[in-house]
Amino acid sequence: MIEDQRREPKYYLVKRHLLELIAEYPAGTPVPTERELAELLITSRTTVRQALSELVTEGRLVRRQGSGTYVAEPKLAWPLQMSSFTEQAESSGLKVETTLVSAERVPATAEIAELLRLKVGAQVHRIERLRVVNGSPMALEQSHLSARRFPGLAKSLRQTSSLYRVLKEEWGVTAVDAVETIETAPASPREAGLLATDTGAPMLILSRHSMDAEGVPVEWVRSWYRGDRYTFVARLGAPG
Ligand code: GLP
Repeated sequence: MIEDQRREPKYYLVKRHLLELIAEYPAGTPVPTERELAELLITSRTTVRQALSELVTEGRLVRRQGSGTYVAEPKLAWPLQMSSFTEQAESSGLKVETTLVSAERVPATAEIAELLRLKVGAQVHRIERLRVVNGSPMALEQSHLSARRFPGLAKSLRQTSSLYRVLKEEWGVTAVDAVETIETAPASPREAGLLATDTGAPMLILSRHSMDAEGVPVEWVRSWYRGDRYTFVARLGAPG
């Protein structure tokens, strides 16, 4: 029984075989149909379908409605560091477009008040922005910042797409230090709609709590990155 469980399931062997094939072709190459693959690999269509679905979820293949399945673009390797989204994308030679999805002023909840070191109920900006990289929606970011400290921020973000640039130019504030956590969750229907993916698709959620040089909290932000499009990279040094 135990041995049976350890044996690789059939679809997994098919998946590994497909991964070897994918590695040889550039992004955009069409993948043969389920039927063709089943014949080629002498297996059932159900097995092929399961292997293909996992490869789509993992971002190795991409399905286009009514057209077929293709080799996906390689994932973006995104370093975990204090840079802004715009800066990071531009320094990697990528074209970034930022859309302001919503901007409101809301009273700080107990959690937000503690993170931004404000009184519960103090006004905060809640700003949602969509990041589109080289034409593909990649991340949705929901930021919270003090409305008193940064009056008119939403208006500025309608003109300038980089938050870090606006904070520096208008208020002389730079986020120099942050604590960042990474979690996963399936995309909600809203996130999936904005990020042009499927409900339930894997998301990487980064939460950043940043401080300025005086140690005053600047921003509390949660970012939903498409799990099939990103690899986060951290450089590790010796502890201590
Ligand atoms: C990254 C961070 C966010 C920060 C943003 C600022 O995406 N995860 O916490 O708000 O950069 O980027 P920009 O200056 O492009 O708005």
